[in-house]
Amino acid sequence: MEAGIGTGRTIRPILEHGGQVVGVDLSIEMLRMLVTKLKTANPQNQVSLILADISRLPLRSSTFNLVVCLHVLKFVHDWKRAVQDAKYVMKPGGVYLAGSVENAHYKSKLGQRYEELSERYGPRLPNRVLRGLLRDGVWVFLGKVMMHLGLAPRFNYDALKRYMEVDLKAQWVEREDATWTQTIDISDTLRALDKKSLTFQSSIPNGTHQKIMSELKDWAAGNFDDTHALEEVQRNAFIVMGQFN
Ligand SMILES: C[S@@+](CC[C@H](N)C(=O)[O-])C[C@H]1O[C@@H](n2cnc3c(N)ncnc32)[C@H](O)[C@@H]1O
Repeated sequence: MEAGIGTGRTIRPILEHGGQVVGVDLSIEMLRMLVTKLKTANPQNQVSLILADISRLPLRSSTFNLVVCLHVLKFVHDWKRAVQDAKYVMKPGGVYLAGSVENAHYKSKLGQRYEELSERYGPRLPNRVLRGLLRDGVWVFLGKVMMHLGLAPRFNYDALKRYMEVDLKAQWVEREDATWTQTIDISDTLRALDKKSLTFQSSIPNGTHQKIMSELKDWAAGNFDDTHALEEVQRNAFIVMGQFN
């Protein structure tokens, strides 16, 4: 089962090995893109999709050998409940795998500056509140607000490992990190930010985004020598893997 499957970037190896995948995501837009992709990539009908919140999984207990959750838990206000639910739907001895890679543009000076500027405009509420309520359900919307206000438990991969070990009494848990350096061109970062293509920007209203971009461009002009200046960015990847009885 892939919790927060998105557009299904990671399921290919499982399909190639003949596995069956149940994908869960609460975004109808993401699932629509995946359905289009699966028209050609799912010839054996190995994939089923469910529109749901991963912290309220509508699935039976003891069903899956593997639950994968990549680049998702940091967006889920009730991430502990999402891990509990994953444990509930896993067969005894099943493996849980959660991980993420920090985006290079997000880690860059401009990405971090964008984040700082966005904090100045207060909590990031979705711009189409009503659409959000209808699409995601009231609890997801309230969850987002709680995250913005700092009222949700803070997620990081240390906290996840501790939670699995101590509260959920996993049989074993491993955490691995990788760090490396990447050189990026600041104009690529500005373009990515301008298009609002980074996940952390999704809850920033468009009007606020325009204001931030205009301040950010001025800031870039004052802080970098030219529009194609290169920047070395430290990137990190995290993975936590564990097995429950
Ligand atoms: C950054 S994308 C990652 C998608 C995919 N796992 C990948 O690695 O390509 C995050 C995904 O998590 C989904 N998501 C966020 N919160 C969720 C929740 N509470 N329940 C289900 N899906 C959620 C989003 O809709 C989005 O598709």
